[in-house]
Amino acid sequence: MASEIRTVGVVGLGAMGAGIAQLCIEAGIETVGREVTAELGEKARDRIGHFLTRKVEKGQIEQDARGAAVARLSLTTDLAGLGDCDLVIEAIVEELVPKQELFAELERICRPEAVLATNTSALSVTEIASATSSAERVVGMHFFNPAPLMPLVEIVRAELSGDAACDAAFALGERLGKHPIRCHDTPGFVVNRVLIPLLNDCVRVLDEARVSAEDLDAGMKHGAGWPMGPCELLDLVGIDVHVHASEALWAKLREPRMAAPPRLVAMANAGLLGRKSGRGFYAYGSG
Ligand code: 3HC
Repeated sequence: MASEIRTVGVVGLGAMGAGIAQLCIEAGIETVGREVTAELGEKARDRIGHFLTRKVEKGQIEQDARGAAVARLSLTTDLAGLGDCDLVIEAIVEELVPKQELFAELERICRPEAVLATNTSALSVTEIASATSSAERVVGMHFFNPAPLMPLVEIVRAELSGDAACDAAFALGERLGKHPIRCHDTPGFVVNRVLIPLLNDCVRVLDEARVSAEDLDAGMKHGAGWPMGPCELLDLVGIDVHVHASEALWAKLREPRMAAPPRLVAMANAGLLGRKSGRGFYAYGSG
């Protein structure tokens, strides 16, 4: 395995991938971000630039540090652009087959000692790794939304992950300023195994207790010390993302609490996706 991580690749620069790339460039690591079109890549660069500008405005970083961080990010639409990376983090669509196809391609493109990590939140890392013939270098690195702000990263050991790959991912997590924890590849890993059914319970309580979203959120913030209420959190994560993750856990575990409540499925079908679509439980300014 690559003994020192000099260059990181991030595949997929949506909210999670852009956040992970931001962490890498802020930690001083040369980072190659891959998106399917140049426009999507530029959109991610703008998003990162915006959050770094806010940090400058709030006196958290110097203008020079912002410039140096942004300069560490290079963009590509060609996967071959990741050929020199020591570790690649995948953050594409949460579907098994596209992830497997990507990992098979990464195995072909990347150097044999490069670590291949997936940011999947509810799929099996072992099943993703099975698309490669070098599963010892595949691990899970599961970041939480918003990645630049949430301290946790789960380092997920799949059935055939090697110690070197797990240790490299753990060390990278620390270097990114995160609190890494180690776990094995079970459905939902540690946090989502608990959080997803809990959020589903919260939504069921909306109907059962006939409480408003505002009051439920106030209840969990002021009665249970949550930093944000469950409805606010679902809007942040994305109703569609949460429904999709619930369905994946339900498919694996068959526990009724894992199944997405009909209210959330209806919201997802209606395009009420939360912050990203401008409306979920709450309405948001610019969408
Ligand atoms: N990326 C980068 N920077 C961001 C950002 C993002 N997505 N979102 C906000 N920021 C920056 C902004 O610049 C913001 O400052 P500004 O508003 O002055 O510009 C700054 O961070 C601070 O933001 P906030 O003032 O909103 O920060 P708070 O102190 O209110 O904390 C929070 C926000 C960390 C999100 C906190 O509310 C929290 O911990 N919420 C719980 C989140 C949570 O539980 N996440 C896990 C979701 S589950 C998951 O991810 C699993 C997955 O598999 C689905």
